[in-house]
Amino acid sequence: MAIVALSNHKWFTATPETSLLDAAKAQGLVLEHSCRTGRCGACKAQVIKGETQILKAEESLEASEIDAGFILTCCRTAVNDIELDIEDLGLLAKINTQTLPCKIDQLNLLAPDVMQIFLRLPPTNQFNYLPGQYIDVIAKSGVRRSYSIANALRSDSKLELHVRAVTNGQMSQYWFNEAKTNDLLRLEGPHGTFCFHPKAEKSIIFLATGTGIAPIKSILEEFSNNAELVQEKNIYIYWGGRHLADLYWQPDFTNLNVVFRPTLSRAQSDWEGRRGYVQDAVISDDIELHDSVVYACGSDTMIHAAKRLLVAQGLKANNFYSDAFVSS
Ligand code: FES
Repeated sequence: MAIVALSNHKWFTATPETSLLDAAKAQGLVLEHSCRTGRCGACKAQVIKGETQILKAEESLEASEIDAGFILTCCRTAVNDIELDIEDLGLLAKINTQTLPCKIDQLNLLAPDVMQIFLRLPPTNQFNYLPGQYIDVIAKSGVRRSYSIANALRSDSKLELHVRAVTNGQMSQYWFNEAKTNDLLRLEGPHGTFCFHPKAEKSIIFLATGTGIAPIKSILEEFSNNAELVQEKNIYIYWGGRHLADLYWQPDFTNLNVVFRPTLSRAQSDWEGRRGYVQDAVISDDIELHDSVVYACGSDTMIHAAKRLLVAQGLKANNFYSDAFVSS
């Protein structure tokens, strides 16, 4: 059995058949992750010492990262004692994953291809999560899909989801053509480690494309409910879409210091907001990136481009948190 040491002096043991991510979780330590399948890159870690062994393909690692000793903790285990240059996320260890029945409480079309869904949970069950996390919804057919929770914890425990239509998508077909109020489903969660990390930096920058705004809305609601979390912080929201109809939400938080920058990549000539991509809009605003923390959610193309650009412009790499939507 190998010992895996983290940079904050915590450690866990690894066995040959279990991923480092799962081994840590089984021993009460949560490491940063999202998809758990090697595709999003959220669980990337640099190996300082020791050898690891691959369990499944590390699809989201670039050749230069492999050369620099990076691995994906959801795809590898340890061969001998190793040291990783990451810390665990203490806060998340107290959140338990559950599988629960749930019913559709409401369905509303937010945009031609985005459905807002409210799920109702059994009144006897306490479902706890950190804003930013996601759940898997399991249909009667057994099809399972992951969706970020779009609201902070509510007293009635309802969960809001934003679901984008996917051409020929099995679950999409259900949501947009068959689903009705009171349908019984199951959910599993919460999952993922995308959540707020209190830090000293002055500015918090949110980047989203499409329904990637959902977990950001959840985190913002949490800020609004507990404004002392972000006292004296500047909060920037860059939300990108192609056309105006893609931007189906507006922030409305009177107690937060929020700058909202809707950004369109295929805007019509009368559009007065930002044009192009969200990461370019950040640069054009001249924000002091060395004094900022970035949270990005949406397409993996945006996330990779944003990280590369913003880090090159002065953002500390470990102040970039992301949740990439990877297709099922
Ligand atoms: S690549 Fe490991 S959690 Fe997504």
